[in-house]
Amino acid sequence: MPATPNLTQIVILGASGDLTARKLVPAVYAAQCQHLFPGRCQLVGVARRPWDDAFFRSHLTKSAPKMEACSYDSWEAFMGQTSYVQTHLETAQDFAELGKRLDALAQGPAHRVFYLAVKPELFLTSVENLSHAGLLDQSGGLNRRVVVEKPFGTDLASAKALNAALLKLLGEDQLYRIDHYLGKETVQNILVFRFRNAMFEPLWNQNHVELVQITVAENIGMEGGRGGYYDTSGAIRDILQNHVLQLLAMVAMEAPSKLDPKSIRDEKVKVLQALRLPSDMADPGKIIVRGQFDGYRDEAGVAKDSQTETYIAARAYIDNWRWGGVPFLLRTGKHLPARFTSISVQFRMPPHTLFGSYDECHLRPNTLTLRIQPNEGIDLSFEAKEPGAGLTIKSAKLAMDYTDYFHKPSPEAYQRLLQDVVTGDQSLFLRSDEVEESWRWADSLRAAMQATPLRTYAPNSWGPAAATDLFGECEGRWAQG
Ligand code: BG6
Repeated sequence: MPATPNLTQIVILGASGDLTARKLVPAVYAAQCQHLFPGRCQLVGVARRPWDDAFFRSHLTKSAPKMEACSYDSWEAFMGQTSYVQTHLETAQDFAELGKRLDALAQGPAHRVFYLAVKPELFLTSVENLSHAGLLDQSGGLNRRVVVEKPFGTDLASAKALNAALLKLLGEDQLYRIDHYLGKETVQNILVFRFRNAMFEPLWNQNHVELVQITVAENIGMEGGRGGYYDTSGAIRDILQNHVLQLLAMVAMEAPSKLDPKSIRDEKVKVLQALRLPSDMADPGKIIVRGQFDGYRDEAGVAKDSQTETYIAARAYIDNWRWGGVPFLLRTGKHLPARFTSISVQFRMPPHTLFGSYDECHLRPNTLTLRIQPNEGIDLSFEAKEPGAGLTIKSAKLAMDYTDYFHKPSPEAYQRLLQDVVTGDQSLFLRSDEVEESWRWADSLRAAMQATPLRTYAPNSWGPAAATDLFGECEGRWAQG
């Protein structure tokens, strides 16, 4: 039996792209700096362009992160362990050569992570070529893991087909489907907050919660030449189906019996299976509001008559014992006035109006807000008596800020996720059934959306005014960051 190798090769396919220099390599470097990987790691960039090691290293160095814990020398040392292998991902023969280069670089047994930072059209071809070249063979106790970026399919049928095809070539335990939102500290904290504290969980159900709203608001538009991709995607496929539904699953799932990947993912998938649109779709405009920012059709790569939504807001329900009847209001959009992601859990109103009348339609004395980003933290609002003669009641809140409290910045999402791939923890990655259940619901939303008008909204506004109507009478209103 060979000894467990002390080396992991992180092989990025599509390494000439933006994601590699901006996110992946800084994340590997940061993890390496903090000794978060077991053993050594080598980085190998793979792409079609005729670059060499020196060119690749200088390209990466332009985006080198400033790490307090690491000196510039160690970046150089890290770059000294970084190589580039020109490979045409569609060409099977190139993968045999790639295998030889990886062996030569490793000079002995090594675990390997293949990170597919490639166009979705190349996911399957890349994995087929890796497999045919024997690069996914785990015999001898060598780990061979494949990381797949989103989008994983464009609907339920394509996601199923992709899952089926990939799982013929490698095991589910080798496949790491990324949703970078799960790497965010505040998202991981949802489970700690819910299940390490006993005081909120008794209230976390339809008896006490009136409504839950989840927002992923972005102030950017189509920067970075993304118009072409985005126009084939839209807000549902780009963000709602993945990031928003993952937040929903984390906030609504039952407590797993253990903190292992299977138990966590089993509970998340049950929430997604139970997710549905309201049964009464007589007035779809009260359920779904879709919008497109003014000027979107003039963006490069966008069709002049594009019907793609850059904003979506929808009302959904989770058909289970805990959440029966509680509306979940989900929203995401581009070119909104602020960038923020938050989850607000609105508790029910007090049963009796003791302190005079108040604006029941808008006042929600008790809301728990998980501020996912930026200004990461948790707020709990309540009403309090303002000091003074009379009885004036004002809203107050208990606020916890991550940076104030812990005095250190949160690591980048990719750092944590790459660390988990290398150590083999799939808890923060999506299992095939999770992806498929998310598409099942997203497909139903896309179909239902066709019966609603595409509304134009001004950039830098909160999207179509009609989204206010998704709240029933006296159910509160959208959070504004
Ligand atoms: C990506 C989407 O998955 O997430 C982008 O494709 C979006 O459109 C991005 O801008 C948002 O990520 P974050 O981490 O900046 O909130």
